Amino acid sequence: MAETLAEAVSRRRTFAIIAHPDAGKTTLTEKLLLFGGAIQLAGEVKAKKDRIQTRSDWMKIERERGISVVTSVMTFEYEGNVFNILDTPGHEDFADDTYRTLTAVDAAVMVIDAAKGIEPRTLKLFEVCRMRDIPIITFVNKMDRESRDIFEILDEVEEKLALDTAPITWPVGRSKSFCGSYNLVDNTFRGSDKQVEALAVNSPKNVAENLPENERATFIEELELAQEACKPFDHKAFLEGHMTPVFFGSALRNFGVRDLINALGAFAPPPRDQVADTRTVHAAEDKMTAFVFKIQANMDPNHRDRIAFARICSGKLERGMKARLARTGKQMGLTAPQFFFASQRQLADTAYAGDVVGIPNHGTLRIGDTLTEGENLVFQGVPNFSPEILRRVRLEDAMKAKKLKEALQQMAEEGVVQLFSPEDGSPAIVGVVGALQLDVLKERLQGEYGLPVSFEMSRFQVCRWISAEQKDDLEKFMTQRRGDICRDLDGDPVFMAQDQFSLRYESERYPAIKMVAIKEYH
Ligand code: G4P
Repeated sequence: MAETLAEAVSRRRTFAIIAHPDAGKTTLTEKLLLFGGAIQLAGEVKAKKDRIQTRSDWMKIERERGISVVTSVMTFEYEGNVFNILDTPGHEDFADDTYRTLTAVDAAVMVIDAAKGIEPRTLKLFEVCRMRDIPIITFVNKMDRESRDIFEILDEVEEKLALDTAPITWPVGRSKSFCGSYNLVDNTFRGSDKQVEALAVNSPKNVAENLPENERATFIEELELAQEACKPFDHKAFLEGHMTPVFFGSALRNFGVRDLINALGAFAPPPRDQVADTRTVHAAEDKMTAFVFKIQANMDPNHRDRIAFARICSGKLERGMKARLARTGKQMGLTAPQFFFASQRQLADTAYAGDVVGIPNHGTLRIGDTLTEGENLVFQGVPNFSPEILRRVRLEDAMKAKKLKEALQQMAEEGVVQLFSPEDGSPAIVGVVGALQLDVLKERLQGEYGLPVSFEMSRFQVCRWISAEQKDDLEKFMTQRRGDICRDLDGDPVFMAQDQFSLRYESERYPAIKMVAIKEYH
């Protein structure tokens, strides 16, 4: 019998992996794909990255600095579930990209390096997940190396993240003697992920036989303590974001990855309800709705087409269907939606709520856009963060000002930078969250548009989106402060200030004006 929409939707698991750089996110992603049969050989994710990088100039930065700039999606199937992994840039200079991606997931895997515990970037990403009530599964990686005491790691998660921990597995051995995990729930032992048959109901004593003699007693003691002292896993608390199930392993050496993938299937929620301006949209509704959380320029700099990554929120997307773009009210044909696998793209004939598809377009779609089958609604909550750095772009060849304007507009639509056009007609200001974004902008303007540029300090250092209850108040403020007002890409007014001090001063002086640092796309 054909699968119903509700059944197809309930099989979807859409998640991101959050980690401090170097904790093992790439390795783990690769192993998850390997289990899903999406790739044949581990190493392809990296190999693929290299291939793309050599084709694209601006990604040189990524290669040189060994950081992952681009957010992408990878889909695979495993034991009846369809998994969509949304990759996020590890470097904090691209934080806004990561935050937007986290609006498109239903769960997250938090990877912790067993020797390092909770690192700053993990904490920051965790906070974003918490803001959005995204449930988190914890994977303590690199157990094949020297690690910290396990109870200490669990305590740290509880204290730093204010999150209850429920270890589902317990590591058997440490560093050199690490040989698998003991499942505290069903008392099974799993050795390497490659030896599935090693999974058997076992007693701690039997499992301890795998360890050198001098480690056995400690293992049994620790296990008893864990079983007594740790909280049992509570699915409801997990879904509400109060508790995290914890797994131990080594992505590099294929330990614990299968436990993790099973947990994603069993515990992680199917596509969640999404809040739109007019109502809440349920994933299993018939009509298709989606929102765009990421735009990526085509890897081929000779073609200006772009891929918009859209998260389907409800219903079914079928290739060839027409969708209404909420921002313009116009219809657009979805003629070539794409799925992404580790080593290839494929036309997506059908995609369901929870899935992420790439929609090629020539600039029609922007970040935050909503697509529907006709209904007039707009999804809320893809955020835009006020930039930390504001700069003027100085063009070496003044004759190319028009071209620069176009190029900046395109970069801003892609979310590479934010663009602010002063009301008084002076040259545009670009804003970024991290300095590396400026490097990307410079490289791309040179490489893709032949525009050599440099950056100059702007007289402004901070900016805020402004609004007021009374239209008159806003208009008056904007007229009085015309030299400090810009419009963003959507035409929304932005107040520019010289520094934090003057921002505070002005906001006290004009209490009727609401000044905000985060704008939700609409
Ligand atoms: P990231 O995406 O979170 O930044 O981390 P990535 O997977 O690139 O891993 C960072 C380094 O840690 C890599 O080593 C990787 O091989 C290693 N690693 C990942 N998982 C494990 C594990 O379970 N055990 C051990 N021992 N190492 C692990 P590298 O030398 O920096 O890179 P590479 O040259 O090996 O690719």
